[in-house]
Amino acid sequence: MPQVIVRPPGPSNLPIIGQLRPFRANPLEFIRKATREYGDLVYFRVASQHLYVVGHPDYVREILVTHQNNFVKSRALQRAKILLGEGLLTSEGEHHRRQRRLVQPAFHRERLAGYAAAMSASAVRARERWQTGSSMDVSVEMAKLTLSVVAKTLFSADIDAEAQEIGAAMTTILELFKVLLMPFSEYMDKLPLPATRRFQKARARLDATIYGLIAERRSSGIDAGDLLSMLLLAQDEGDEMTDEQIRDEAMTLFLAGHETGANALTWSWYLLSQHPYAERRLHEEIDSVLGDRPPELADLPNLRYAEMILAEALRLYPPAWAIGRKAIGEFALGGYDIPAGSICIVSPFVIQRDPRWFPDPEKFDPERWTPEAREARPKFSYFPFGGGARVCIGERFAWMEGVILLATIAQKWRFRLGQGQQVEPLPLVTLRVKNGLRMIAEPRVAAPKNSLRVGT
Ligand code: HEM
Repeated sequence: MPQVIVRPPGPSNLPIIGQLRPFRANPLEFIRKATREYGDLVYFRVASQHLYVVGHPDYVREILVTHQNNFVKSRALQRAKILLGEGLLTSEGEHHRRQRRLVQPAFHRERLAGYAAAMSASAVRARERWQTGSSMDVSVEMAKLTLSVVAKTLFSADIDAEAQEIGAAMTTILELFKVLLMPFSEYMDKLPLPATRRFQKARARLDATIYGLIAERRSSGIDAGDLLSMLLLAQDEGDEMTDEQIRDEAMTLFLAGHETGANALTWSWYLLSQHPYAERRLHEEIDSVLGDRPPELADLPNLRYAEMILAEALRLYPPAWAIGRKAIGEFALGGYDIPAGSICIVSPFVIQRDPRWFPDPEKFDPERWTPEAREARPKFSYFPFGGGARVCIGERFAWMEGVILLATIAQKWRFRLGQGQQVEPLPLVTLRVKNGLRMIAEPRVAAPKNSLRVGT
């Protein structure tokens, strides 16, 4: 007798394709609606894949922490190996544990301190490029800015030319990557198709640059204080990383380290433009803490409101809007047996907009981030950086970068939404703004003291 599998509730699946069409058309809305309609554990099928979406923080912990050894990353990240090799984001098991140990020191507090100046300097350069009244796509500007930050902190300030070259090759690769994620695309890797060839060419260019940098740094023996030097210095019981491993980690940090941060800042500017009270409070904080000078590391503890804005932007628009895992063995969740091979989706977007943890969830309210309010909420009601052994290694870097860039730019500029601009999320690998975010740059006039009014 074949075993009968009892599935949690969910939308009824069409023969063969299941929920393929609506899921593909708008996965974000689909999973959100499904958890609202069917509860905290929802089942549906996308073609032959069995998907489980969870809507409760306890289930998030079960997947990301309690049963973490029962999971591997889902297909998109496994496909990403053609670019990232066996770097932190894509590797599994013992290899991942070893690499994590080796890379971790690059993100220690003392090491991060050295990156603050590079962040501030990049933001100052960016804000000097803009002109009064100019209309610009803020998402493009933020992408350029976080790319320059990660290029500087990863490979050092004196290699601007290579950083640009790497940025350009990376853009080509990311565009082509969409094609390489399509169903059956595994077979395309072997065929001489134009997209495959362009991808391979861009990857080869990027590899040449990165291997060149590794060789140069190895022969000079200098600790430049950047992430690349840390990777070269990393040792594990007398065992250091090979050039190929360093290449994979450098490529991973480069990719994981800029797109998400650009997203978070883009959404922050949008939200600030819609909430004048929060914008004014941010300006007051900047004026009183910094005056006219750019922020330094020591200012971070005093830029609390900037951090609360960022936290709230990451709640409403988490860049990593869904985290997928594939079960390697059967396991129990919420009273159901989930078979091996199932895909589990935990979505910060869905859970962070749940009124049980965030009353009036659609409302932008930085006050949710006072220490008392944070304490009152369950763990994993907010997890923009994931959790468990695969939690984002760059989380501290990201908070520091976010606050420094936000403060440095808001010192001189505010952004108004362009006329007729519709703002909608676009759930790609990260949560982008559909069609970009066109805004007008206005120079900022310092807020007069005591101008705060509650409830605007
Ligand atoms: C706002 C900014 C960021 C967000 C929202 C974010 C989010 C995340 C999330 C959710 C994960 C876990 C993915 C999973 O479990 O499948 C992750 C992993 C990772 N992130 Fe970030 N990230 C950010 C910034 C950064 C930065 C600045 C870096 C590096 C400089 C970075 C490097 C990584 C790496 C290497 C991993 C893989 C870690 C591992 O599996 O051991 N991220 N990130």
